[in-house]
Amino acid sequence: MEYNKPHIITFDKIGSSHLGYITIAETQKNIPFEIKRVYWTYYTPHDVTRGGHAHRALQQFIFAVSGTITFNTEDKDGRKEVFTLDHPSKGLYIPKLVWRDIQFSHNAVLLCLASEVYDEADYFRDYEEFKKTTAK
Ligand code: TYD
Repeated sequence: MEYNKPHIITFDKIGSSHLGYITIAETQKNIPFEIKRVYWTYYTPHDVTRGGHAHRALQQFIFAVSGTITFNTEDKDGRKEVFTLDHPSKGLYIPKLVWRDIQFSHNAVLLCLASEVYDEADYFRDYEEFKKTTAK
């Protein structure tokens, strides 16, 4: 698996429709970085777009543990893609230098596994600055 561009991985699930399921994310096994931080977002109104940033170094694995979450991404080479997380077993890997806008269904809970602790200096919050920095 290439870990230099955004992509969705479907994680294994253990269980059955009778008993329910468990999905496991584990450093070095199916997460390609040491997990230093976990955060989750919830109750985001359907008509709100979040994100609107990129990261200089941060890598993330993001799950919709409930609901549906749509990502519009643009990588450092200007490649634009749309990713939909619509099942709890799907994880979106986001490497560094990917701009993202995110939309949520009303019941969505976003769970993020992050490779670094929070650092505001790691953010590009200005799109033009992101484009300038990634321009070849
Ligand atoms: P942000 O990353 O901009 O969230 P989103 O992309 O979902 O809109 O973060 C929202 C706010 O939360 C911002 O003020 C920074 C703060 N924050 C922390 O303090 N620590 C964290 O680990 C994260 C992810 C955000």
